[in-house]
Amino acid sequence: MKLLKEYIQKNGKAIGPGILKVDSFLNHQIDPNLMMAMGEEFKRKFEKDGVNKILTIEASGIAIGLAAAYAFNIPLVFAKKKVPSTMGDFYTANVYSFTKNKDYTICVSKEFLHPDDRVLIIDDFLAMGNAILGLKSLVEQAGAKVVGAGIAVEKGFQKGGDLLRENGLKVESLAIIDSLEDGVVKFK
Ligand code: G4P
Repeated sequence: MKLLKEYIQKNGKAIGPGILKVDSFLNHQIDPNLMMAMGEEFKRKFEKDGVNKILTIEASGIAIGLAAAYAFNIPLVFAKKKVPSTMGDFYTANVYSFTKNKDYTICVSKEFLHPDDRVLIIDDFLAMGNAILGLKSLVEQAGAKVVGAGIAVEKGFQKGGDLLRENGLKVESLAIIDSLEDGVVKFK
C-alpha cells in the first residue's frame, strides 16, 4: 500500500537488530487518516471472503482492527494479554514472543467467538507469526473459521509470513519489508 510505505519511509526508523520503530503513526501516536485508509484496503483485499468479525490483539492491533471493522461494518474483538478477573469462560493460547523472548497467554471470552463466525485476523506486525498462530488457535477453539490475516507491516526477512502462507492461510500485508540494514528500509 503506497500510503503506508510513504509513512514508513518518511517517519519510520530502522533500529537494530531488525526492528522498525513506527511510534509516530502506529505504535504510540496514531495517525487516524492512515488507519482508516488501511481499514479500507483490508476491506478491498478480503471483501469476497464473507468476513463477519475482526480479531486482533491488544494494544497496537486495536487501532488498525477498529479501522478494518468500521470499513466492513462488523464487530472488532481484541484478545487480551492478561486474563481479567471479571471475565467468565474464555479461550486461551500461549504465545512466544521472539522480539521479547518470553511467553505470554492471550485470551478471548467465549461470549465473543462462535462456531458460525468467519474471522479476519488483523495485526500491526508480522515477524515470526506466533501472535497470528495464537489468535488462530482461539478462533479454532471456538469452532469458527479464520478466513485470513491482514497485516500492516510484514518483516519479509523473518519466517512468519512464509510459514503461514505455506500452511494455507491467506495473508495480505500492506507493506513487506525486505531488509532494514544500516538504517535503510527496503521494501519487497
Ligand atoms: P510474532 O508475533 O510475529 O512472532 O512477532 P514477535 O513475537 O516478534 O512480536 C512481538 C511484539 O513485537 C508484537 O507487539 C509485535 O507487533 C512487535 N514487533 C515485532 N517486530 C517489530 C518491529 O520491527 N517493530 C515494532 N515496532 N514492533 C515489532 P506487542 O509486544 O504485542 O506490542 P503491542 O501490540 O502491545 O504494541
